[in-house]
Amino acid sequence: MSNKETIQTWTEDGVGVIQLNRPKVLNALNRKMVTEILQTMEEWDRDDSVSVMIVTGNAKVFAAGADIAEMAEDDAISLELLNQFAEWDRLAWVKKPIIAAVNGYCLGGAFELALSCDLIVAGENAQFGFPEVNLGVMPGAGGTVRLTKLMGRAKALEWLWLGEYMTAKYANENGVVNRVVAPELVFEEALKMARKIAKQAPLSVRLIKESVNKSVDHSVYEAMQFERKNFYMLFASEDQKEGMKAFVEKRKPQFKGK
Ligand code: CAA
Repeated sequence: MSNKETIQTWTEDGVGVIQLNRPKVLNALNRKMVTEILQTMEEWDRDDSVSVMIVTGNAKVFAAGADIAEMAEDDAISLELLNQFAEWDRLAWVKKPIIAAVNGYCLGGAFELALSCDLIVAGENAQFGFPEVNLGVMPGAGGTVRLTKLMGRAKALEWLWLGEYMTAKYANENGVVNRVVAPELVFEEALKMARKIAKQAPLSVRLIKESVNKSVDHSVYEAMQFERKNFYMLFASEDQKEGMKAFVEKRKPQFKGK
């Protein structure tokens, strides 16, 4: 276990875990926390001993959004000069799978963090929302874009304009989260998924993520060309030879990520 200023991190069974750790302010994401999350993810992205990452809060809260106290006195120019959201862009470039394990509030910037992950496991007590409209602002780290892609224009506008919180059940029924489980099982469920993905052929997992991401932002034709090249590229790997040979020989494959 490693204690940074705003997060705790550890690894187990090839899974890297980031636990948000500012409980006094409901894990509000200040700039230091975003930096620490990104630094850890980028480090693990280059570390062969980590295959999958999990971001989680505690049993009561994932996070109540960006740190409002920190932002309150900002102005447009200071935000531009700070390049406030540049680190969020880098999150999209992390190659390994990231799972958000969410209990309780997941609001504003925290909802954007969860939506930037690849999968979301939610507790029945989870509440997702964009309350920025109540503060006289709006999401700035992908919220309007990602929610609209997931739910469609009208539903996204409803949640963004009303600033209300959606339940985990609603989020699940509308394609926002992958699984809903009892609050005490959230981390266990995320870990179970992570361990299973960690056992898959690493290059397949990596290129599947890249291809799926491509399909979100490009035409079907373009995304399919990209998918095809990735499919061909996997035939340059030892794991493809091993995976198919193991099938023919009726045994479990031993993947190396090469
Ligand atoms: N930033 C800074 N501090 C926060 C915070 C936040 N986002 N959310 C909660 N806190 C602090 C509170 O100020 C409070 O601190 P004190 O004990 O020192 O007063 C502590 O955490 C506990 O919070 P509450 O007493 O408010 O707890 P509650 O259970 O009564 O209410 C809540 C919970 C409904 C989530 C409420 O805290 C709340 O509305 N928080 C703000 C949610 C929000 O607006 N998030 C969006 C932020 S903007 C953003 O994220 C922009 C972006 O896109 C990047």
